[in-house]
Amino acid sequence: MSIDGNPPAGPHPPVGDAPDVRDATDTPLPGTEDVGVGGIGPTGRPMPSFPPPPPLADHGPARVIAMCNQKGGVGKTTTTINLGAALAELGRKVLLVDFDPQGALSVGLGVQPNELDVTIYNLITERGHDIREVIQRTRTDNLDLVPANIDLAAAEVQLVGEVAREQILARVLRPVLDDYDVIMIDCQPSLGLLTVNALTAAHGVIIPLECEFFAMRGVALLVETIEKITDRLNPRLQVDGILATMYDGRTLHSREVVRSVVDHFAETVFHTVISRTVKFPDATLAAEPITTYASAHAAAAAYRQLARELIARGGAA
Ligand SMILES: Nc1ncnc2c1ncn2[C@@H]1O[C@H](COP(=O)(O)OP(=O)(O)OP(=O)(O)O)[C@@H](O)[C@H]1O
Ligand SMILES: [Mg+2]
Repeated sequence: MSIDGNPPAGPHPPVGDAPDVRDATDTPLPGTEDVGVGGIGPTGRPMPSFPPPPPLADHGPARVIAMCNQKGGVGKTTTTINLGAALAELGRKVLLVDFDPQGALSVGLGVQPNELDVTIYNLITERGHDIREVIQRTRTDNLDLVPANIDLAAAEVQLVGEVAREQILARVLRPVLDDYDVIMIDCQPSLGLLTVNALTAAHGVIIPLECEFFAMRGVALLVETIEKITDRLNPRLQVDGILATMYDGRTLHSREVVRSVVDHFAETVFHTVISRTVKFPDATLAAEPITTYASAHAAAAAYRQLARELIARGGAA
């Protein structure tokens, strides 16, 4: 007990709470049970089959994907880590780029970014660095990281006067494009110059949307920004998919949000939805992807399915 009489905060559930079915290993999360191929899935559409893709004979060039939504806390970082890990499990060589000064992606993969001297910040603001100096291996095979820390917060202002300031990240990534199959950029919750750089470097964007009432707020502005970048800076850019996150199939509300997102965006919405479960914050505390932290949990299965769906759509090799 702490001095105010409350139990200490921590990852353990309060004693005496009813067991949460959503946390039982292997128990399907409500509303995302396996409906089989052709059954009606959580997005209200028949589930296609997402078979395991064949292994790749050789690697690269990478397809670059920006994880983007200017709304905070929608699951961008969680999806970058876990989709990245699921693709790595399929034998894809994956590089994750932390492009948020908060450094949550780095921390979530076990790197303490504030102790680092060189990060993505130095790559984009100083000449003469090679991205290979900054890339770190993670504990997951095939999964590498370019870390970020709070230094990156200054970059936006520093880059304003640069020539071709929107293309800096694309230039930084170029030397390692052939070393990876997928490069995923975890954007910060803003549509500022850093996010514009990510969208300019990318082939595709994945937009995570939290299943709650204001999910769609701001999406029109994001889509408009993506269209402007397609027009002016990066004609190859496309929306790879919209991902419903923090879904709770027991509530009418979650089901209605997903339905309205599908009404708006139709086939752009991934069939895979990510349920709300405390396993994600737990995995973050353990600084591990869900695929290793709770490999048999339904939440790990969901990101594995998302990886197969992305590959089936042509969003990754
Ligand atoms: N499916 C989920 N179920 C429960 N909690 C989740 C889920 N996905 C993410 N979270 C938790 O919600 C919080 C926000 O998630 P995350 O950091 O991935 O969002 P974000 O969009 O990257 O946020 P930011 O905009 O601040 O970068 C984290 O504490 C994370 O552990
Ligand atoms: Mg984040």
